[in-house]
Amino acid sequence: MTILEEARALRAYLTGLRRDLHRHPELSWQETRTQALICRELDGLGIPYEKACGTGVLAELHGAGDGPAVGLRADMDALPIAEQNDCAYRSETPGVMHACGHDCHVAMLLGAARILKAREAELRGTVKLIFQPAEEVIEGARAMCTLPQLADLDRVFGAHVWIDLPAGRLSVEEGPRMASADNIELTIRGRSAHGARPHEGVDAIAAACAVVGALQTVVSRRVDPLDAAVVTIGAIQGGTSPNVIADEARLSGTVRSFRPEVRDAVEKQLETVACTTAAAYGAACEFKYRRCTPATVNEPVSTAIARRAAVRLFGRDALLHLEKTTGGEDFAWFLERAPGCYLFIGARNEGKCYPHHHGCFDIDEEALVNGAAMLAQLGLDAGKESE
Ligand code: NI
Repeated sequence: MTILEEARALRAYLTGLRRDLHRHPELSWQETRTQALICRELDGLGIPYEKACGTGVLAELHGAGDGPAVGLRADMDALPIAEQNDCAYRSETPGVMHACGHDCHVAMLLGAARILKAREAELRGTVKLIFQPAEEVIEGARAMCTLPQLADLDRVFGAHVWIDLPAGRLSVEEGPRMASADNIELTIRGRSAHGARPHEGVDAIAAACAVVGALQTVVSRRVDPLDAAVVTIGAIQGGTSPNVIADEARLSGTVRSFRPEVRDAVEKQLETVACTTAAAYGAACEFKYRRCTPATVNEPVSTAIARRAAVRLFGRDALLHLEKTTGGEDFAWFLERAPGCYLFIGARNEGKCYPHHHGCFDIDEEALVNGAAMLAQLGLDAGKESE
């Protein structure tokens, strides 16, 4: 049987796992039931593993021949979203939902583990199965990457089911695929006064409004128009009463870009613009910039390996071009550790298509078969082709 035929034979297994996980979603760092399910399946397959970073799991398959260490990664967590679907496998946890498809990723990697275990003698080197918690809060990958067990990774692959691609199609492309995602927090400090006598105080709200406007010019006036960046202020709080000049206002937001040079420049310019604008209004500005995840940039050799694997499985027509996205993905931390490729598995649910992170999100479960086959093929090919 071919790898794809083997994955197709696992359809009921994959669908069962995914639906079980979908009914029991768990938030970031709370994936204990998910972890127990993974451990139970790995026990059944006779694959050695260890729990890692609290709710994560690391498992290893050893081939008969020498070769590199190839990582295959699946994220595990759900989102604080109430599911609006009315399917048999809808979330049984109020306010929590697998609205991004990480339930599928766990099922796909367990399916690949099953296929690879049966073909262990064919493997070259080691395949490390990385079940990573807390992707949605962009913390899990960074934590997993500190593990000494992953210090020797030679190559690493990850896949996301993707609603913008039809089932049966994939995007496997080199270069930047997803943006860096960073947080900013600003505290603007003025001085309180009577709302009718503003000249006796320093209005933190007036200063904060000017800062929000001025920050928008960093992308529109300071970043090369052929580069991409996003600055969004998503929250603003300040003041207590309609007739009191506010002495403090707090802003927070997210910053996205694709190139390290742009990221560095935007960070520096945001601070300058925020602090000087606040100063022009007589206010002080405390500026905090927290780097969360780098951009997800696919390395060319790993991408070529993955493209060949995709063509072998699904034919040349299956590869589609997908524009890079300003969404963030903490798989980027693995790509800082080892060369690799992050790919997108078509999962569009043709009758009913809602975006990721929506309460009606659901996938075409054919994606589970394709994803499991793809990860298994990568586990086999990357060991051989990396030599
Ligand atoms: Ni996701």
